[in-house]
Amino acid sequence: MGEPNSGTGGYAVGIASIDAMHVELEERLAALQEGGADVRLALAALQDHLQRHFAHEEALMAEADFPMAACHGREHASVIEVVTEVQRLLEAGDEAPLGRLAPAMLEWFAVHASGMDAALAAYLKQSAPTAA
Ligand SMILES: [Fe+2]
Ligand SMILES: [Fe+2]
Repeated sequence: MGEPNSGTGGYAVGIASIDAMHVELEERLAALQEGGADVRLALAALQDHLQRHFAHEEALMAEADFPMAACHGREHASVIEVVTEVQRLLEAGDEAPLGRLAPAMLEWFAVHASGMDAALAAYLKQSAPTAA
């Protein structure tokens, strides 16, 4: 886990491939928060990132037979559902939920990274130390 903003990123868990995803998620959320020219593109990039990020962690869990895989996977699925719903509302002309998405996701991510992802990383390091 480590100190905030130390090492490879504030949400590092000590498995390089997961840490890279966590840095990328921070970047995607920062881009979304900045707004910029096309929020739809930023939102689509976030959705694309989350699909890859979660699929990667879920593949690691399946490979290592991680005991909390189902619970961890359900949390990923509910986040995908929220982002998909915000995309749907944006397409329907409702931009209000979009403004709340990045701050809410940052709050969620801090808890998820230091809880579920850190537990997964600890399990991976213990069961296959070379993965770190
Ligand atoms: Fe993660
Ligand atoms: Fe996760």
